[in-house]
Amino acid sequence: MSTQSPTIAIVGAGLVGSGWALVFARAGHAVRVFDPSADIRARILPWARESAAELAAAGLIGDAEAVVARIAVFDTLADAVAGAGYIQESVFETVETKTAVCLAIDAAMDPLAIVGSSSSGIPASRFTEGCVNRSRFLIAHPVNPPHLVPVVELVPAPWTDAAVAGEARALMAAVGQVPVSLSREIDGFILNRLQGALLNEAWALYDDGFATLADIDATVSCGLGLRWSFMGPFETIDLNAPGGIADYARRLGGLYYGMAQSRTPRAWPAETIRRADDERRAALPADELAARRAWRDRVLVRLAAFRKAGESAS
Ligand SMILES: NC(=O)c1ccc[n+]([C@@H]2O[C@H](COP(=O)([O-])OP(=O)(O)OC[C@H]3O[C@@H](n4cnc5c(N)ncnc54)[C@H](O)[C@@H]3O)[C@@H](O)[C@H]2O)c1
Repeated sequence: MSTQSPTIAIVGAGLVGSGWALVFARAGHAVRVFDPSADIRARILPWARESAAELAAAGLIGDAEAVVARIAVFDTLADAVAGAGYIQESVFETVETKTAVCLAIDAAMDPLAIVGSSSSGIPASRFTEGCVNRSRFLIAHPVNPPHLVPVVELVPAPWTDAAVAGEARALMAAVGQVPVSLSREIDGFILNRLQGALLNEAWALYDDGFATLADIDATVSCGLGLRWSFMGPFETIDLNAPGGIADYARRLGGLYYGMAQSRTPRAWPAETIRRADDERRAALPADELAARRAWRDRVLVRLAAFRKAGESAS
């Protein structure tokens, strides 16, 4: 990236790409958005206007209209990418789609630009090998929605230039995200490996009939998750034994080892998924999913405002 405030291109503007557009626009960058779907292209600015207004109402940004005015929608990938200093790819999670889109980005990009992929778990080496500028590509995996949940995992492919990973980290920090850098590739990266460990155990407990979905969910939403919204598992256990993390490991390491030994990996069974679906759809009918997602995002806005107030008070 050659300039202090690079122009940003967003390729793929579904759930995640649209959130990325807001991340960069609110930090002052010009943002060029491309999506092949005319419907998505038509939705991006009205969505950005509504979301920016919510952020402004919560005191998270200043002038919402100025933020939205930085976002421009393009009809072709090449026009959106040409001249951009940083490109965020957020297309479907398949090797085929990502390979095709990365080759198209590669052909249109400035050779000094950096390309981050939102891939949730497919390492960049599986879809960037054929790119001429492959040393400029890496994973920049966000959490949905990226404008409300700041962490972003940066994962280099074996051929990613180390300076590129450093520049991407600096850019993400500068726009207010929280970068987490991995030294090398691993399927699922860190976030989805941690989420996977919890989900695999939750499915197994449910499959074995130990509790309802609702009670397993409450264990996280009203238990573990309250601390996890502001500290990670290591800091949590450091505070949960009088002598800190080593004391915790001494007291409870055996219990955790025993639990790990009692499990062998299992697929999520179709019949159990059907029971889980029945329980969730009874609690939340399918036609109310979108409204509940909007509610989740409003809670995340309030949480972000609360955390911001806490940061300025401390
Ligand atoms: N949804 C999540 O919770 C989440 C979280 C983190 C990362 N991700 C990752 O982000 C990426 C996008 O996921 P999403 O949830 O936004 O999906 P989505 O289906 O909402 O959006 C994908 C977009 O890509 C566009 N697209 C398809 N082919 C394209 C092409 N050839 N060129 C440009 N755009 C194209 C589609 O039109 C669509 O708008 C995936 O890799 C996904 O794994 C998703």
